[in-house]
Amino acid sequence: MGEFVSVSTDEHGVATLRLDRAPMNALNSQVWSELGDAAAQLTDDDAVGAVVLWGGPKIFAAGADIKQMQGMDFQEFFAHGGALQQAFDALARIPKVTIAAVNGYALGGGCELALTADFRYAADNAKLGQPEILLGVIPGAGGTQRLTRLVGVQRAKELVYGGGMVDAQEALAIGLVDRVFGPDEVYERAVEAARRYAAGPYALRMAKKAIDEGRELDLDSALRLETTLFTACFATEDRRIGMDSFVANGPGKAAFVRR
Ligand code: CAA
Repeated sequence: MGEFVSVSTDEHGVATLRLDRAPMNALNSQVWSELGDAAAQLTDDDAVGAVVLWGGPKIFAAGADIKQMQGMDFQEFFAHGGALQQAFDALARIPKVTIAAVNGYALGGGCELALTADFRYAADNAKLGQPEILLGVIPGAGGTQRLTRLVGVQRAKELVYGGGMVDAQEALAIGLVDRVFGPDEVYERAVEAARRYAAGPYALRMAKKAIDEGRELDLDSALRLETTLFTACFATEDRRIGMDSFVANGPGKAAFVRR
């Protein structure tokens, strides 16, 4: 589709959002816009059951395009700077399970792109970080917020204040990534996991919404949101399929239709 961002969907309903802007997958404003378009497509396309975000075998992304930003003044950035945040919000709100498969560097906006996903699978050569402070700015696409919610205030402060990187094992230890694999298998393992989610029920959408939106609410409101979404599951075909299958054949054998 776009020049730097493409989407392809396999026969199991797993879409790969591929970022491809050599040499470092730097996120210029065209990439921001293409990521926003891809998020809309992935949200709307019922043939897509789960999504893998991938930057290819060498690098996930080295962040926003510093060479483009270098020439921008305050007024220009004020007018357009929110576009990246909007595109990343749209990715984070894709109502399907998303997995970032990270080979090599995921820095700045690259780390923030990975943070939009439900899960991060990293190659053992991956390095993640928020080096924006070394450029005289702060993370601007979720790095002070999604990162903090994921790894906690102290680890986020270390990464954002210091601008350093963590390797895959340390990222695993602090919860920044969820699984670590060899560089040649990380994408395939992400696709395998995504296939399992793509075969799951419509209720996965409800679960994602309940967790992601509920965590921003007080407990009482969040529990009411959960009740509403739990009740909404009873409007789906998959609820009937799941319960009929359990009664007839026992647990875990239902063939869901994602409706
Ligand atoms: N933007 C633009 N160009 C970049 C880039 C970026 N984010 N990252 C690397 N490049 C360019 C380099 O300038 C270099 O270009 P030339 O060949 O023209 O000199 C080329 O890509 C190769 O880079 P290196 O020679 O530096 O390669 P390396 O292997 O030695 O190092 C790296 C790789 C560790 C990723 C290093 O390039 C680096 O530190 N990149 C910048 C990382 C960074 O600061 N990211 C944050 C950006 S700001 C941001 O993302 C804001 C936000 O929150 C949205």
